[in-house]
Amino acid sequence: MGAVQTLPATGHACAVNYPMSQPFSRKFLSGSPAAYRQWRENKLIGCSQTAAGRCIDIADPWSLTADEIRQLADSIKHHNFVLYRYDPHRYGSWEPVRALCAQMGLRTTVDNPLSDENGVSTLYDRTGETDFHDRRYIPYSSRPLNWHTDGYYSEGSGTIRSFVLHCERAASLGGENNLLDHEMAYLRLRDRHPALAEALTSPDIMTIPENLQGDVRIRKRFRGTVFSVDRDTGCLYMRYTQRRHNIHWRDDPRVSMALNVLDDLLNTGFPEKLTVRLSPGQGMLCNNILHCRAAYADRAGAGPDTGRLFYRIRFSERIRPPDRVLQGRP
Ligand SMILES: [Fe+2]
Repeated sequence: MGAVQTLPATGHACAVNYPMSQPFSRKFLSGSPAAYRQWRENKLIGCSQTAAGRCIDIADPWSLTADEIRQLADSIKHHNFVLYRYDPHRYGSWEPVRALCAQMGLRTTVDNPLSDENGVSTLYDRTGETDFHDRRYIPYSSRPLNWHTDGYYSEGSGTIRSFVLHCERAASLGGENNLLDHEMAYLRLRDRHPALAEALTSPDIMTIPENLQGDVRIRKRFRGTVFSVDRDTGCLYMRYTQRRHNIHWRDDPRVSMALNVLDDLLNTGFPEKLTVRLSPGQGMLCNNILHCRAAYADRAGAGPDTGRLFYRIRFSERIRPPDRVLQGRP
């Protein structure tokens, strides 16, 4: 992990111009160099206009002001993620988080076996619980979590296009998150190694075996690629995990080399990579960007009432606040 980003206060006015995302044509992945260059230039200009990692102060997560929505939207438009914070003493638990997301256009949760009936996953170290049997789920432990995008094995209605990660309690030590806009990961990889970036767009290079728990099939086998264009939104979509077990990559030297280069870049070489240590009341809302988590320790012991506790809610929509707010209409 690199140095931890200090989250600066805000107070800045911004202007968001539609659209909320830059359309990413399928042709960009396999050619169309002039059109891709224009997209690239627009992306870099946009990123230079708004600093990534600026933390937006929210007065009341139940009722965002138009200016707060525009500030959140401005960061998401350019970086695909935004950091926010509100008073954790006035607004605790997951309900204000869900309310904030709803005001940013996120209403359809994507559940998993460990999320509750509201689509909320309460992440804390459960490895000491006698009735917690599935220790494969690293998010529910204090172990480090490698770079990934959420739901890289999901498709159809289970496709995760956005999620929020909100800190209810921080760890005594560690637990930092690294963040990287997946569009910037593609751009930088293609800048340095265009052939390798293209290799990661080939169909069916990744196979995730089915997930069986006893006789119950939790998830069917998935085959897909790393970089693709989402049919529903026209945006660049990334499926990726740094894990090397329980995943099969196509036996192709270009794919192997591309994965090695991407791993190296994620670990060392992306200037846009941001390390944050979220405090209580702070959260990160994103269009399913690349992220990872450092190991952590809880001096008072792990558990739902003492140790690090984060809420995670995943959605099938991309972030899309109401047009009327972005356009300044009443
Ligand atoms: Fe994740």
